[in-house]
Amino acid sequence: MALRQKKPLDLTPYKVPEHIAIIMDGNGRWARRRGLPRVAGHRAGAENLRRIINACVEFGVKILTIYAFSTENWGRPESEVRGLMKIFARVLDQELDDLHAQGVCLHHLGDLTGVEPGLQEKVRNALEVTKNNDRLILNVAFNYGGRAEILHAMRQMLADNVSPDDLTEELVSRYLFTRGLPDPDLVIRTSGELRISNFLIWQAAYSEYYATPAYWPDFGREELYEAIVAFNQRDRRFGLVNQE
Ligand code: FPP
Repeated sequence: MALRQKKPLDLTPYKVPEHIAIIMDGNGRWARRRGLPRVAGHRAGAENLRRIINACVEFGVKILTIYAFSTENWGRPESEVRGLMKIFARVLDQELDDLHAQGVCLHHLGDLTGVEPGLQEKVRNALEVTKNNDRLILNVAFNYGGRAEILHAMRQMLADNVSPDDLTEELVSRYLFTRGLPDPDLVIRTSGELRISNFLIWQAAYSEYYATPAYWPDFGREELYEAIVAFNQRDRRFGLVNQE
């Protein structure tokens, strides 16, 4: 089979966002359109994630945060949850060596409590193996919810006896799962939905948002390029005004 040529995409005139976060939505609809079970959409979504990681490395994105499984997703049909857990485990088994060789450093955002012990072990192993890599930080939000993250931070601060006088935004950021990392510059949501769905609600306060009708399995390298170009057309003021 002939290898498909990658279209050259020139980002030289543009500023590449340092941190991109993605709500990978639309796997189920992608599958339904093809008369396939929802889990086939998640499998296609996992394959696409590989393409997007490669594109982030190619484009020079330093941090990619993906919403893989929310605290609310446990409420989906049991067969779908089981299928998703299988996909996460398989991706870790099959992709870890390549991700490590590529210089990807994996971080987990969320709570592993309640996750099947075998999968917890695979996640911990992946974090350990890749911890010194620095080409791309890949934050995987898995069993994650933004409100739960803030509650977790509050509990930790109370346990550490943080005094109200010492409480600052900077300090709260240091208690979040993303501690030490800059906030996302750009949050992308696929599949046409215009919701934040409890994703990075603290960290994305000043992020630019980009929504595209493409279902996640169809959101490839060229679509990511278009999102970066669109980001460059935004005027980020962080609540300030532009100098005349
Ligand atoms: C949303 O689509 C997607 C998810 C809840 C799961 C995201 C998971 C993947 C992309 C699989 C691979 C991930 C990793 C980390 C290996 P949806 O099911 O809500 O789609 P719908 O809105 O069309 O129903």
